[in-house]
Amino acid sequence: MTQPALSHDASPDLRSTFAAEVRAGLTHTPQKELPSKYLYDEVGSALFEVITVLPEYGVTRAEERLLAKHAAEIVEHLPHDVTVAELGSGSGRKTRRILEALCKKRPTSYCPIEISRSALQLCRRELGDIERISIVGYERDYLAGLAEVSKQRAADDRLLVLFLGSTIGNFGRLAATRFLREIRTMLAPGDALLLGTDLIKPTPVLVAAYDDSIGVTASFNLNLLARVNRELDGDFPLDAFEHVARFNPDARSIEMHLRAKRDLTAHVGAAQLTVSLRQGETIWTESSHKYRAEEMPAIADGAGFVCSHQWIEEEWGFAESLLVAR
Ligand code: AVJ
Repeated sequence: MTQPALSHDASPDLRSTFAAEVRAGLTHTPQKELPSKYLYDEVGSALFEVITVLPEYGVTRAEERLLAKHAAEIVEHLPHDVTVAELGSGSGRKTRRILEALCKKRPTSYCPIEISRSALQLCRRELGDIERISIVGYERDYLAGLAEVSKQRAADDRLLVLFLGSTIGNFGRLAATRFLREIRTMLAPGDALLLGTDLIKPTPVLVAAYDDSIGVTASFNLNLLARVNRELDGDFPLDAFEHVARFNPDARSIEMHLRAKRDLTAHVGAAQLTVSLRQGETIWTESSHKYRAEEMPAIADGAGFVCSHQWIEEEWGFAESLLVAR
């Protein structure tokens, strides 16, 4: 039976935080940047959903295949009686398998944590019909949300944190370990983290995945500037920017940029900002770091976890690693 969906709403100062971060990013030298988390407003979330079904973007399908094949086995390796917290729920489609396997055993609380309200709504629509599930959404930053879920879980419940889809790839390598360490501080020994990572593959395959032939990823990227225009009273001329995806071999990441096709000046009213770009200059909007499966045990160890199991999808190249807090 579908449970009523509760939610814990965002604080009212999200817009001023957005403005402050846009200001900081666009005044950053030498490389202007915008935080990738702002790609996911209602339009961006819908565009990302399209990306996940593009032929060039194998990431989501690979993880879905992996979870479809191994959900029962993964659940066997989890502690009993878990409350599930998911960081960045997205649409929730790939989470379904895990939740169904858990709910088959016993009623399970599922707490998606997501700064995008529209993504939370998609997620409820997608997963609300699972039997014996209760969904409580948290419209929060990951760590703030996780702290709350951790506090509010049933006394003898273990926590299972899901961090799927290779979202960890948006952090730099150092920042990724730091982030896992912060997650760890909110967990008790025996709590678990299921971590999805996209694996390193040939550069042309990677570049195509982030620069698809029909321009959905380009629109997804451009929407970030469009969103600044919409929400922060900006006047960026969108037609003066083009989407760029390039592999950075040192960082082992795909970078998305927005490149100015001509010299231009724009204003962002809510950030009290005037910004100029020269022709060819870029705004860096996202990095997606790629991993080797063999790196995970050391990364886990550095963050206070043991990497107890891994499941690998070989066709595209994707890994699911089960990290247990020690
Ligand atoms: C949702 C962050 C995993 O980095 O692959 C897809 C976002 N950006 N295409 C990724 C994204 C461009 C995606 N993540």
